[in-house]
Formats: sequence, C-alpha cells, structure tokens
Amino acid sequence: MKRCRLIYRSLADPSLLEETYLSKLVARAQERNAVAGITGLLVLSGNRFLQALEGPVGFVNELVTKIIADKRHSRFELLSYEQSAAPVFYDWSMTVLRLEEVPPATREVLVAKYDLENGSIRVPEDSFSAHSLLLDARWVCVAQEKALRA
Ligand SMILES: Cc1cc2nc3c(=O)[nH]c(=O)nc-3n(C[C@H](O)[C@H](O)[C@H](O)COP(=O)(O)O)c2cc1C
Repeated sequence: MKRCRLIYRSLADPSLLEETYLSKLVARAQERNAVAGITGLLVLSGNRFLQALEGPVGFVNELVTKIIADKRHSRFELLSYEQSAAPVFYDWSMTVLRLEEVPPATREVLVAKYDLENGSIRVPEDSFSAHSLLLDARWVCVAQEKALRA
C-alpha cells in the first residue's frame, strides 16, 4: 500500500479559536482518521494552523480535499507532499498542540528557533522548517503525555 505525508498551513476562522470548537473538531478527526489508518498532528499558533497528515495515499488525498473545502479555515497552503513508507507522527490518529499553552522554557526555545509573528510563534512557510516545527511539537506532545502518566 502506498503511503504519503502531507503538510500544510492555513488560517483558522475566529470561531475555531474557541477551545471547545477546536477540541470537538479534533475528537471527530481522531475517530475518522483511526478508521482510515491516518496519523498526524495539528499545531495552532495564534490563528495559524500547521498540520501533518500521514497514511494511505488514497485516504490522505480524499481527506485533504475535504480539509481544503472546509470553511472553518482559509488560505490553505500546501507545504510538502512526500511518498513515504515510514510514518513519523505515528503516536496519534490526530492531536492538537496549542503553542500559546506550552511551558515558558519550551516557548523560549521555539521562539529562538522560529521567531515571532504578531506575538505568536511563527509558522514557517518553507517545508524544511515546517517539518522541524512539527517534529518539535511532537516532542512536546510526547513529553506532556509522559508527564501525565508519571
Ligand atoms: C484545520 C482542520 C483540520 C482538520 N483535520 C481533519 C482530520 O485530520 N481528519 C478529519 O477527518 N477531518 C479533519 N478536518 C475536518 C474536515 O475538513 C471535514 O470536516 C471532515 O473530514 C468531515 O467531512 P465530511 O462531513 O464532508 O465527510 C479538519 C478541518 C480543519 C479546519
């Protein structure tokens, strides 16, 4: 089965910035993605989304067509699309990291690496840095989950 990894960024509709709406969207995404064998990570910084989606090519392509048409965000920009065998964001069918909520020490590191844009950690537009931010976000999520279990 051919697999792929897709990364995009977009601008959240103000309604989605409310905690409960975004949490509901992600809970629904988790259910759907699990059925399709899709994994990934969604980052929110200010009003910017950055999302990685990995899984079977057909399912990922179908999903991204829906995501592009979704009125709850705009200015969709595809940053990367790779055919790949090995998933990197395999920990969750989907999860969200709100960068405004990371601990101060982590925020400092992220600001040093990615800089600020309108007071929020900048979501890069080049694919290499976007991958890097998503990998950092994955590390933060994994550490948070470990701390919760301890
Ligand atoms: C930023 C953002 C990320 C999304 N991520 C996913 C996702 O990972 N999985 C998913 O099933 N839907 C996701 N959605 C929702 C889809 O756009 C769509 O509403 C959902 O797949 C249901 O589509 P349908 O009702 O046309 O079947 C996301 C929406 C937004 C705005």
